[in-house]
Amino acid sequence: MAEAGAGRWESHRIIFEEYLAGLSFTAEPELSVLQEAMRYSLLAGGKRVRPTLCMEAALVFGAEPEVALPSAAAIELIHTYSLIHDDLPAMDDDDFRRGRPTLHKKYGEAMAILAGDAFFGEALTLITVHQKGRPEQVLEVVQELADSTGVEGMVGGQVIDMAQTGAGSDADPRTLRMIHEFKTGALIKSSARIGAIVAGAPESGKDAISDYAAELGLCFQIVDDVLNATATTEELGKSAGSDEEQGKATFVGVYGLEGARREADESVGRALGALSKIDGDTSGLEQLALFVRHRGS
Ligand code: IPE
Ligand code: IPE
Ligand code: MG
Ligand code: MG
Repeated sequence: MAEAGAGRWESHRIIFEEYLAGLSFTAEPELSVLQEAMRYSLLAGGKRVRPTLCMEAALVFGAEPEVALPSAAAIELIHTYSLIHDDLPAMDDDDFRRGRPTLHKKYGEAMAILAGDAFFGEALTLITVHQKGRPEQVLEVVQELADSTGVEGMVGGQVIDMAQTGAGSDADPRTLRMIHEFKTGALIKSSARIGAIVAGAPESGKDAISDYAAELGLCFQIVDDVLNATATTEELGKSAGSDEEQGKATFVGVYGLEGARREADESVGRALGALSKIDGDTSGLEQLALFVRHRGS
């Protein structure tokens, strides 16, 4: 029987961290610097929200969380690639990430671009070679990741984010919501769906957990906006105050700090409300929603 309370998340995290640390992408000495750069970013202590959500979703639908590990790791690889590219001078031009100098600061821009690209390929290998399940399930996992990271997903969200940089408080609320849903919400939603898929959940279960995770993803980015404006660089492990400096389109810019907190409350309320449609023990998902809303405060 799965552990209850915070212990369950800690248990997912420990299992996941061990799996991630054990991944080796090459034994070729010529490529050791690429592998070293990838591990520099990957093993720098992210919160692992997406992979542990994926493992918890598998558990909710009756599988052992470990079954989802290859897909959960693929998600974290892709998330890490998105962070490395997000920090590049051509994008947010940030010097700190996960408590360390950004990858391009340490290894140069070319390596940062290529390490990000390599993560995408290695993510596909993890799923297609190592994810257990019927071929249709494995294909569905690949489809989810492709959809959530493509044009109407993470990359599309980043494009609109960049286009809106400078808009600040003038950003249109509808466009702002679209940025957050695409750049952050899509991958968080697919993390939950992928856990459900590998557990063999019915369509109704996948849809129900999608509704929860879509709201969770929106709330996650609203809180990220709030923390960028209120926390310190030391607390965040990445540059605080950068959104305002760059005129980013954020919930804080458009709604103000209190307004953004209210939007986050409403969003987490909708996430919690969606849990009633899921058959199974949703106490872990409830805890995650509360963590996402209240982290850092
Ligand atoms: C940061 O994501 C980028 C956003 C989408 C807000 P996380 O806050 O999950 O970053 P890590 O993985 O913990 O470093
Ligand atoms: C990052 O968004 C989103 C992705 C990497 C897809 P932000 O640029 O708002 O996040 P931080 O503050 O750099 O983590
Ligand atoms: Mg950005
Ligand atoms: Mg950024």
